[in-house]
Amino acid sequence: MSKTVTGFSKWSKVAKIEWLVENFFSDPADAKATFIAWQRPEEEQKILDSFTENAISNYALPFSVAPNFLINGKVYAVPMVIEESSVVAAASSAARFWLERGGFHAEVLGTVKLGQIHFRWKGCAGRLRALFPHLEAHLKNSCDDLTTNMRQRGGGILDIALHDFTDLEPNYYQLRVSFETCDSMGANFINSVLERMGDALENFVETAPGLTDVERDIEVIMCILSNYTPDCLVRAWVESPVNELEELAQHAGLPGHAAVERFCTAVRIAQIDPYRAVTHNKGIFNGIDAVVIATGNDFRAIEACGHAYACRSGQYRSLSHAEVKDGLFRFELKVPLAVGTVGGLTGLHPMAKRALEMLGNPSATELMTIIAAVGLAQNFAAVRSLVTTGIQEGHMRMHLNNILLHLGATEAESLAARSYFQGRTISYSSVRAFLEKLRSAVPAQSRV
Ligand code: MEV
Repeated sequence: MSKTVTGFSKWSKVAKIEWLVENFFSDPADAKATFIAWQRPEEEQKILDSFTENAISNYALPFSVAPNFLINGKVYAVPMVIEESSVVAAASSAARFWLERGGFHAEVLGTVKLGQIHFRWKGCAGRLRALFPHLEAHLKNSCDDLTTNMRQRGGGILDIALHDFTDLEPNYYQLRVSFETCDSMGANFINSVLERMGDALENFVETAPGLTDVERDIEVIMCILSNYTPDCLVRAWVESPVNELEELAQHAGLPGHAAVERFCTAVRIAQIDPYRAVTHNKGIFNGIDAVVIATGNDFRAIEACGHAYACRSGQYRSLSHAEVKDGLFRFELKVPLAVGTVGGLTGLHPMAKRALEMLGNPSATELMTIIAAVGLAQNFAAVRSLVTTGIQEGHMRMHLNNILLHLGATEAESLAARSYFQGRTISYSSVRAFLEKLRSAVPAQSRV
């Protein structure tokens, strides 16, 4: 048996599994059973298999719900797909806290998506700029058929701009194309249009009258959307008079105004220090990613864009901002979110479809407001814990279940452990020691 293979993608699923378990597992029969056990019934599995190549099984994550999210006056139960134990509990607790204080507010500041055509041209920049108005019209016309549907839905190509990078890379220019893609994330639409435009660019330069041989020499390097969409932006915020926030840190015995002051300082620290900012923003993306995944959107694109946006001043900083002005506490998150509610996985994945239905089948802009509110809620809950009780108390309480599962605890043992660890420090070794002691006192056959 060899660990390398040719033509793998053409093998049957069973053949793939058998080859894998024989070559990479010490317990082939059990490993095969695991891969088979996590498969879905045939019709559902067919849908999942169609998403990628070489699918042999499924990787399940919990599909959870954070209820009580009041956003722009509307109540949502928000679907979240995430493996980190405390995230949904934290989002739910923040949603509940703000439910009685006006809820979350959110506004979409822009919906512009971007694509780029990168090319090399040896003529002079001034000549290219002079040709540009004709070129722009030619490029737009070239993809008329591709944009018809999108234009009918109110979207399409918004603008084409020429950028000169020849001072950084010899003969390198870029066409930056902006799009409105309505309720779709638009990646396929944008890439198809860009590739057509790339061909049209070559054709224009080869056939436009009056160009010299040098000017006819063009090389299109690549045509691809940009995941950096700083103008596909949403702002979410919560606000409350400070004197109505007494409950903010009651559990930690801290007066409301002191907790607010400490909270704002913590957010300012994440503005100042990139080491803190990355962790702070990670907490925001705990919420954002969970909803993005649940609704069948592309979390890698959202993360990459969000982190680039956090660097827009030249330094990586917090995406959120907190302040008290005239006795009013305001906590705000501004984040680019290029998401869709039609197309892609959104209509194909059965759980993504249900997630969107749970949210009332929102438009892409409404989904942006929901996701931003959840990101803010997550950030609020994390920073509130950090500046009061510390994060480990809640986190380890939730994580206790994982530890118990890992140590094979029975129902009765788990119950005893949960009771024992109230008010005690939870760690893997302390839980193991507790179980060992418990088990040494109770004979194995009488355990339930
Ligand atoms: C853990 O997943 C996220 C936090 O570290 C975020 C934060 O520190 O703000 C708790």
